[in-house]
Amino acid sequence: MSVVTMKKMLSSALKGKYLVPAFNVFNTETLIAVLEGASELHSPVIVQLSMGGRQYVRNPIKFLAYMKSMAMDYDIPVAFNHDHCPTPSAAIEAMKMGFSGVMFDGSPLSFNENIKETERVVKAAGDYDVAVEAELGRIPGFEDLVFSGHAEYTDPEAALKFVLETNCTSLAISAGTSHGGVMAEDYLPFSFEVLKSIHEKLPSFPLVLHGAASLPPDLIDRVNKLGGTVPYMRNCAESDIAKCGELGICKANMDVDNFLCFTEGVRRNLLEHSDLYDPRKYLEDGEKGFKQEVMHKIANVSHTVSKAWSEKGK
Ligand code: 13P
Repeated sequence: MSVVTMKKMLSSALKGKYLVPAFNVFNTETLIAVLEGASELHSPVIVQLSMGGRQYVRNPIKFLAYMKSMAMDYDIPVAFNHDHCPTPSAAIEAMKMGFSGVMFDGSPLSFNENIKETERVVKAAGDYDVAVEAELGRIPGFEDLVFSGHAEYTDPEAALKFVLETNCTSLAISAGTSHGGVMAEDYLPFSFEVLKSIHEKLPSFPLVLHGAASLPPDLIDRVNKLGGTVPYMRNCAESDIAKCGELGICKANMDVDNFLCFTEGVRRNLLEHSDLYDPRKYLEDGEKGFKQEVMHKIANVSHTVSKAWSEKGK
């Protein structure tokens, strides 16, 4: 057991009423941090590559092959999803690369255009048996190469219509989280009312949360005490995200807190060992910070400790 499809991952989460943590990676250190962290807690995990990550790794096909081969060393279910494809063609490229799930983000489009473009992606996905995550509503903030200054809760009635018409596999909704927790002007508080109404309309359908990192001020403090000047940003509380598995959320994307912990590790190492110049030394501390945060999210937010299943047991 190790590499499983996104469809399998989502159906297990839906059945078990838990949310699988999804983390973006882009190099060996971040990949190992996720695989080791999840494996030590015996948790299923979704590993993602974003459009920015795709550029960063230079050759995403080879990088995906590398990630899959590394995942085989860990006895936990790992699924690979391509995060935030801004166009149907980017999503179709990701399917051809070998991701078992792709996210097509048509949320900046009008409702009808979003349906039309998502349908194109779903149709193509049929040829590859790939899961398609769509998005409806507006999540504010920066996500990698994507920015929205506008926040808008997903309308439950529209979500039902969207899912029925597009036949997407899962739906990312806007319930008050924000990407990167940045200082987008338009901010909406996290709303269980919105989430519950969407879940009522789509009771057996996997919902997804983006922007589920929490940017706690003490974490930003830690980075800034080591010379950082990271602005204080607001986002949802971990305790709120932790309740969402019961309400149809099967996957939560959380990155920024991991990135802050990696930065903290690198900054501390460089400050404490200013005579050293071997990049492996400070990257190793970055990796440790990232891994600790992955384990924190698994233990305290997704609550997926020991939820790794065995193929033999299925
Ligand atoms: P954060 O910006 O909260 O880390 O969420 C990441 C995300 O949604 C990636 O798609």
